[in-house]
Amino acid sequence: MKQNPKTVRMWMIICFLFSSGLATLENDRDFKMCGIWRHGNSSRNLKYDLRTGCEKIEISANESTLSIRGRITAKCTGSSSIDLDSNAPQNQSHFCVFWEPLLDLLIVEVNGKNHTLCEPKGLQGSCCTDLSQGDQKNASVFGIVKGSIRGDIIRDDAMEIYTFAGGSINCKEKFCDEASQKSRGANMIEEVVMKSGTRGHVDLPCAQSTVIEMEEGFKGLNLTLPAYPSVAPNMIPSVYLPSCLKSATKIKSKVVCTYYKEQKLFQRGPSDSILLDDIVGLSVENEIIENLSEPVRIRFHHIPLPANCSGRCVSWDTRRDKKMIWRNDGCNTLKINERETECHCDHFTYFAILVQVEHKATVRHLEALTFITAVGCAVSLVSCLVLFYWLCKLRKGKKNQTSLVHRGLVVAIFFLCLFFILTGTIANVGNSTVCMITGSLLHYSLLSTLCWMAMEVFHTFLLVRKVFSSTPPWVFYLGGFGLPALLVGILLSIGDIYGEKKIVPSENITSPYRMCWMLDSDKSRLAHYIINVGLLAVVVSSGTVMLFLVVKEIRNRPDWKKIHVAFLSIWGLTCLFGTTWGLGFLDFGPLSEATLFLFCIINSLQGFFLMLRYYSLERIKKKDDSSSDGSSSGSSKQHMLQHTHENS
Ligand SMILES: *[C@@H]1O[C@H](CO)[C@@H](O)[C@H](O)[C@H]1NC(C)=O
Ligand SMILES: *[C@@H]1O[C@H](CO)[C@@H](O)[C@H](O)[C@H]1NC(C)=O
Ligand SMILES: *[C@@H]1O[C@H](CO)[C@@H](O)[C@H](O)[C@H]1NC(C)=O
Repeated sequence: MKQNPKTVRMWMIICFLFSSGLATLENDRDFKMCGIWRHGNSSRNLKYDLRTGCEKIEISANESTLSIRGRITAKCTGSSSIDLDSNAPQNQSHFCVFWEPLLDLLIVEVNGKNHTLCEPKGLQGSCCTDLSQGDQKNASVFGIVKGSIRGDIIRDDAMEIYTFAGGSINCKEKFCDEASQKSRGANMIEEVVMKSGTRGHVDLPCAQSTVIEMEEGFKGLNLTLPAYPSVAPNMIPSVYLPSCLKSATKIKSKVVCTYYKEQKLFQRGPSDSILLDDIVGLSVENEIIENLSEPVRIRFHHIPLPANCSGRCVSWDTRRDKKMIWRNDGCNTLKINERETECHCDHFTYFAILVQVEHKATVRHLEALTFITAVGCAVSLVSCLVLFYWLCKLRKGKKNQTSLVHRGLVVAIFFLCLFFILTGTIANVGNSTVCMITGSLLHYSLLSTLCWMAMEVFHTFLLVRKVFSSTPPWVFYLGGFGLPALLVGILLSIGDIYGEKKIVPSENITSPYRMCWMLDSDKSRLAHYIINVGLLAVVVSSGTVMLFLVVKEIRNRPDWKKIHVAFLSIWGLTCLFGTTWGLGFLDFGPLSEATLFLFCIINSLQGFFLMLRYYSLERIKKKDDSSSDGSSSGSSKQHMLQHTHENS
């Protein structure tokens, strides 16, 4: 949906009116007295005499002079006379006196022209406000008529003098109270800070701001926000402003970074989430900052989040939307560590971290499952050693492809079990680099196991097609060990794939089981789906196809009936065991508890089953050899069994 420029412009005007309407909402600190000054036709001037203190202000007028005198300012002093443009042939002028005590700002507007008598110099703590009407004096001809305060007319007739007495209060506190009751309280704070004319630190009870000026050649800036008395210095958020923030057209622009501790100023997050304490607001004077080419970075410090919770950067967009909500878009969340999260955002507004309970599946009976898996892996380790020894001994000297492929699979499963046992311990002991390396090794051995299974399928294919011994061994090594190394190498070079993963037991979500594996990030989830699940799918589907091919090839032979049960069970088991390891790494999600236990048992005992299978095949073959009498049927049977064995 593309809006035409006219509509956009109209909306911008409406939004502007809307926001400026809100921004100029009166508050009871500020004073605004207006009236019509009836004067003579000759030259006129504006006289003022301002001193610090908190007594009263006198606004008086006669034929030639509008005069402002008083003791109400915090810092500003001065007395002078300004000549007013008196060429106009009128005998009355509209005027207003504005007094903003928080800023120590006093402006007199005469006939639409503003004269700033007191410039703001920072925010004032104690200031003079609540100006109430005191003495007044009637005038004969010249003076002030239709005197009004904040738009309410107080006297219609001509007065020579108005007096207002003030009281001293803590303006900053009052201002924060007011801001926290307004829907745009935070905007109000930033506007005042922007107007305050200071650079550097501006301190309010509800917010701490830093004002910086970007000059020409602005190269980006690292900024630590001013400290809060109640916050430890190392918990203060830090901000990096990128160089692209400085627009080329302006010579100077002011940036205000504000650190809020007052959540009342903002709306709460969605009901199932908590907003962390810190909120950082960023704004540039008179500009809306969007679509930055380099993101602004805000680093938040926080308490460690519970394992089943995740923190996400959110921004509160008040400018684009009329609805003010915490939004997820426009910011990327980068988890630095347990206690630090960095937000990378492409626009300027208010930023915070929203903590949400992750609806991540927790695993029941995790402790029992971990134990079963560890025992199963230990049994498999021993089985793999025994099997490897057999394979080496029996086939010694003979260049046998079948034994080569079996040996490869055994080695891969051995390392898979070994790293699986080690991974939990290393995650608890080692640092992040060690964990990353262990995670990649575990992944390598899983991929290698899957690849060697694929090699078994490939080898069976060669046998069925009777392509004997034409394949050099390095092809198998390349497929079984080389390809996984390549894949893991690619993932390592991408980075942020391996590391500590937490599996949360549902019995006690505060103590997750740590393992070194693939991280919980989007990138590694993608890698998991493409590589692990993809490879598994290739192995399972090609295995199934191969099973059919073999059955088709040998079913017409006379002895098929006799051995087909053994054959099918062996192949079926191979497929089952082949897939279970992979399935164990898939999401546990919908699996029932019984299935989960079964998976853990079968998976971890894989090496043991491999040994059993090999052993039973050897037995069948031996029995067959001894009962064979050299007849044609016997030799055919033997040939077929040999075939079956090699296939398995
Ligand atoms: C008008 O008021 C000013 C200051 O209050 C005073 O200096 C001046 O003399 C007055 N002018 C007349 C004509 O009374
Ligand atoms: C003069 O200043 C006041 C107070 O800041 C403001 O409301 C008003 O719009 C200004 N008038 C002009 C003509 O700039
Ligand atoms: C949960 O685990 C934590 C940390 O190991 C432990 O302090 C706490 O007592 C456990 N809670 C339960 C209910 O077992």
